[in-house]
Amino acid sequence: MNSVPDLGHGVGLRREHFGRVLEGPTRVDWFEVISENFMGKGGRPLHVLERVRRDYPVALHGVSLSIGSTDPLDRDYLDRLRELADRVEPAWVSDHLCWTGVGGHNAHDLLPLPYTEEALEHVVARVEAVQEHLGRRIALENVSTYLHFAGSTLPEWEFLAEVAHRADCGILLDVNNVYVSAVNHGFDPEKYLAAVPADRVWQVHLAGHTDCGSHLLDTHSRRVCDEVWGLYRFATRRIGAVASLIEWDEEIPDWDTLEAESLRARAVRQEA
Ligand SMILES: [Fe+2]
Repeated sequence: MNSVPDLGHGVGLRREHFGRVLEGPTRVDWFEVISENFMGKGGRPLHVLERVRRDYPVALHGVSLSIGSTDPLDRDYLDRLRELADRVEPAWVSDHLCWTGVGGHNAHDLLPLPYTEEALEHVVARVEAVQEHLGRRIALENVSTYLHFAGSTLPEWEFLAEVAHRADCGILLDVNNVYVSAVNHGFDPEKYLAAVPADRVWQVHLAGHTDCGSHLLDTHSRRVCDEVWGLYRFATRRIGAVASLIEWDEEIPDWDTLEAESLRARAVRQEA
């Protein structure tokens, strides 16, 4: 049994929709926000977030934790994240199972890890340190990948499951990322979804990607495709009712289009 609440069906809160969301009411159940956009900042964004938080559950989703890096954990970043979390009281805090830089350089990308026992021990120790620092457990998300390490000894789904088990953290299962990586690397996405420990999944991400011909690119710039809806149905049958979230970050549509995607997630889950 999962240890976090099912928040229903939400969308990522983006600046373009601040006005519409504050006007209320909406038909979405909850919002996810990018932590870094609100950390250590006052002003309108934080004011909007606090208003939204009065009416909806909110989750904090970060992009800069760099849990897989060999650089020391950024204590200042963690302090600011803790401060935001203490203020917002989110349903949970999440980031990505990846690294984003090394030697102080930020690659501004979510880069894949080698899936080895050594990397596993490294990541688990860092997740434990982060959870200790924040005073709360976190969820880690599988990322879209375009290359892999020849030295990997475990499939990604086993690595993800082991991190969650050993560090006692949650999983943010991005179904679109599973699909993008499956096509790019030629594995069966259902095999991935079937191997994810259902009781660790706190949340699902759904998003659109771009077909570049030679590979799929995780762009969050369009509607969720039929294949990903099919995989969401498959995942829901296995995992049960966990919070879903539509991510749309480029070519952001009007509110009604975004809300309709969330309502579709609700319908697909009900059907499943
Ligand atoms: Fe995602």
